[in-house]
Amino acid sequence: MSLAEDRALLSARRWRSAFVILAAAAFAAMATAGALAVPYAIAGFAVVATVALVLLRSARGQNRFAAPIADVEPDDDLLRAVVAGLPDPVVALDRDGRVLAVNDRARRLAPALRQGEPVALTLRIPELIEAIARAAAEGEEQRVVYFERVPLDRWYETIVMPVKRAATATSPDFVLMTFHDLTPLRRVEEMRADFVANASHELRTPLAALLGFIETLQGSAREDSKARARFLAIMQEQARRMARLIDDLLSLSRIELNAHRRPDTPVDLAPIVRQVADGLETLARDRGVTVNIDNANAMSVLGDHDELVRVFENLVENALKYGAAGRRVDIKLGQGSSAEGEPEAQVSVRDYGPGIAPEHLPRLTERFYRVDVTESRAQGGTGLGLALVKHILNRHRGRLTIESAPGAGAVFTVHLPTVVKVHPR
Ligand SMILES: Nc1ncnc2c1ncn2[C@@H]1O[C@H](COP(=O)(O)OP(=O)(O)OP(=O)(O)O)[C@@H](O)[C@H]1O
Ligand SMILES: [Mg+2]
Repeated sequence: MSLAEDRALLSARRWRSAFVILAAAAFAAMATAGALAVPYAIAGFAVVATVALVLLRSARGQNRFAAPIADVEPDDDLLRAVVAGLPDPVVALDRDGRVLAVNDRARRLAPALRQGEPVALTLRIPELIEAIARAAAEGEEQRVVYFERVPLDRWYETIVMPVKRAATATSPDFVLMTFHDLTPLRRVEEMRADFVANASHELRTPLAALLGFIETLQGSAREDSKARARFLAIMQEQARRMARLIDDLLSLSRIELNAHRRPDTPVDLAPIVRQVADGLETLARDRGVTVNIDNANAMSVLGDHDELVRVFENLVENALKYGAAGRRVDIKLGQGSSAEGEPEAQVSVRDYGPGIAPEHLPRLTERFYRVDVTESRAQGGTGLGLALVKHILNRHRGRLTIESAPGAGAVFTVHLPTVVKVHPR
């Protein structure tokens, strides 16, 4: 119902009240003065009051006939109840853009939205205000995608849907505005684009080197056996790098595919850690680093043996590569409890190297993220190691914590829910 119709109805109601009061006063006066017997006065008053009521009803009926809009009060209660129960942020507006109903989710998006106030006062998004006006005037659904910077970068799509109470109505009675948060979708799109760009870049570098050496071997170095041996060694190294990158990428997508399936085989972490340390002995010796394992008691978790080997391989290898300056790496196994108080196995890998500046810490587990790209590449790294660690631990319902400060080394701790208590050997 529009504002003009509202007003007409209100003034009719006022007239009816005044008329009924006047009639009551007139009949009472006549009865008191003895001009009319009391029963006749009461009957006369009843007739006048009924006529007033019928006249008002018919005025309302005519109004409805002139503009096919239903009664406002009970319908608005229903509208408010429906809007409140919808799962998305929704605002219902009248044809003039005033808020009829708004649910809590929409209020969280735009806390200043007030029932009865024009939406244009609160939502200062010109394209959206125009879309509401268009939807109300043309009766056509409108879609608006917009971006908000404050308080956080967010993308929204708003669907503005004109609604008619009766199928035969020529113009909409109100407009429903539904907000969809597109931010997670946009982020995934951005991540996918970044991922493809990074992966191609990482592959292109060794591929360019291989092509360069092949050309040299076909040309100037064709008869030079010494150069050939040297180049072939470099080519082999580059080809291995590409193979490792592809291997890591395939592992990542396999782990992601299985992310919802928690491994269910009990595995002991102690022998895994020892196996990893033994496997990296040559690297440790090359770097002049001693690896100490503290408290290698049996510690059982539900896990995938090979994936857990991969986790500790990445962490110990990083400690040996990037923390070599500290000449020592300590691996410690222990029991602790999670933030929720659940028992968990904790395995920490500590190095005494240069450490990591705080601004890098939250990003270390992103794919291809490296603090120093040149150094990582020189060490044969692709920047996928910690991303793999994070995904494997997620699948195991565990997590990785990192503590570090420049100059103070780094501690990477794996937290995994335990199923069996520690049994000292
Ligand atoms: N113990 C550490 N001390 C200092 N920096 C570290 C340490 N561990 C990791 N980093 C930094 O984090 C970055 C990301 O590590 P990550 O294991 O994901 O990749 P990578 O080692 O470069 O490559 P990959 O593991 O694929 O061989 C590293 O490039 C390095 O800059
Ligand atoms: Mg690594």
